[in-house]
Amino acid sequence: MEKEEILLNIKKEALDNHIPIIEDDSLEYIKKILEECKPNKILEIGTAVGYSAINFSKYLYGENSKITTIEIKEQMYEKAIENISLMKLQDKIEVINADATKYLKQINDQYDVVFIDAAKGQYLVFLEEAIRLCKIGGIIIADNMLYRGRTLSNYNEHKHRTATNRLREYLVQMEEDERLDSKLVKVGDGLAISIVKSK
Ligand SMILES: C[S@@+](CC[C@H](N)C(=O)[O-])C[C@H]1O[C@@H](n2cnc3c(N)ncnc32)[C@H](O)[C@@H]1O
Repeated sequence: MEKEEILLNIKKEALDNHIPIIEDDSLEYIKKILEECKPNKILEIGTAVGYSAINFSKYLYGENSKITTIEIKEQMYEKAIENISLMKLQDKIEVINADATKYLKQINDQYDVVFIDAAKGQYLVFLEEAIRLCKIGGIIIADNMLYRGRTLSNYNEHKHRTATNRLREYLVQMEEDERLDSKLVKVGDGLAISIVKSK
């Protein structure tokens, strides 16, 4: 089977199983960023089945380029490993089975791009770690910032309130943080894009 066909199957299987993978519009937007910034090292927080990481891997640039992606659920981790092997990308994508809130604190590598796409309640924790782990001039991208319209809406159901509040705090933080130059892009479910100017 051709790689494109395998990737389409990975996407279809994820959608059939209601696994929240990146939306097409958001992916297209991020591809353009990656095309321009030519990343050598990408860090992804929230692998799911590896769909976004597989897509990003086409835009890696230079020697020893790599994506490190972190997934808390063992079942997802196993599926991501399987998908990445099917795509023959084991040497380009490293999947870590861990809670990113803990794992990130143990690493000091520097990345060109950090993609935040995991538990919304932890987005501010992820942002601070992402700033620490991003090179100056590097880019932090956070997905699902609009949370299906909830982030900018006045009323939200109780069960969504904590996540919504954390996402709002993220938006305020990225605006006010002098280390960052940020914008919210209303594509897909909303992408927060921040360039790290200083640390
Ligand atoms: C939206 S999905 C990721 C989708 C993936 N980036 C894609 O577009 O193909 C979010 C994933 O983050 C994982 N996750 C949630 N909290 C996490 C944490 N603290 N550490 C690592 N992974 C986490 C979830 O298990 C889930 O698989």
